[in-house]
Amino acid sequence: MHRLSAIAPWRAYAQSVRDAGGRVGVVPTMGALHDGHLSLVRRAHDNGDVVVLTSFVNPRQFSDASDLAGYPRTPAADIALAEAAGVDAFVSPSLEEMWPDHPRPTLTTVAVSELAAPLEGAGRPGHFDGVASVVAKLLVITGPARAYFGEKDYQQLVVVRRLVRDLAFDVQVVGCATLRDEDGLALSSRNALLSPDGLRRARALSRALRAAKSSKGRPSECRTIMREVMDSAGVDVAYADVVDVATLTPLGDHERGRGRAMVAGVVEGVRLIDNDEIDFDQGGDRRALGD
Ligand code: PAF
Repeated sequence: MHRLSAIAPWRAYAQSVRDAGGRVGVVPTMGALHDGHLSLVRRAHDNGDVVVLTSFVNPRQFSDASDLAGYPRTPAADIALAEAAGVDAFVSPSLEEMWPDHPRPTLTTVAVSELAAPLEGAGRPGHFDGVASVVAKLLVITGPARAYFGEKDYQQLVVVRRLVRDLAFDVQVVGCATLRDEDGLALSSRNALLSPDGLRRARALSRALRAAKSSKGRPSECRTIMREVMDSAGVDVAYADVVDVATLTPLGDHERGRGRAMVAGVVEGVRLIDNDEIDFDQGGDRRALGD
């Protein structure tokens, strides 16, 4: 496995792969790797890509200094996991090269306005500007054929797809299914910050999604159910919404088609998110919409 950090050799490595007729697949991460990340690597291998995994805790996407300071960092374990997973190049760029003006704000920002505003964007001002800016930079440097993102961060996936479309990046964005533990908890680097009791409470997020889905209720009923499940488990609910899969605007009770149930909450000071698709077209005995 190649280990790179400076931009020049990183760019040169990706170019050498393309020159040899290979296709680069990039897996952007903030480190603290878990099986969810490794599933993205597996997907890239299945597609025949030469896998470049980037690991960079991007300060621009943290609106809270203590959240950034407390974000899990496990560099030695990450390198071992990436190597065992067959990653071709592990890139850990420096803050100096990624954001040379840091801690002053960088003048250039990629903002995916309306998609960045609701849900996570409402609770974490500037978060998606930071995500979109760093992803754009990673794509410019790496020049991948494909870029892999987990559906666990569904709003991020929608934002990245839009930036790729709007700025005509020549890359296919591949969304990969969320990996869960045996109790349904979505794998996340942040889970490592929770106590056993916190982990137990965190499971309410996926339970809320399942309860909404199986209720066969309308979007407003799903919102109530999800909030109740999380509330009663002691999760400090940030939002429990059902939105349009593409625009992320709240789905009305009369609307049909696929929606995305989105939940976020805080447990032991750790912000957690999860989501799932719900089909409001007709699901067996789903109650008539708009009644
Ligand atoms: O999902 C993440 O880990 C980060 O938001 C990303 C995409 C690597 C950008 O920093």
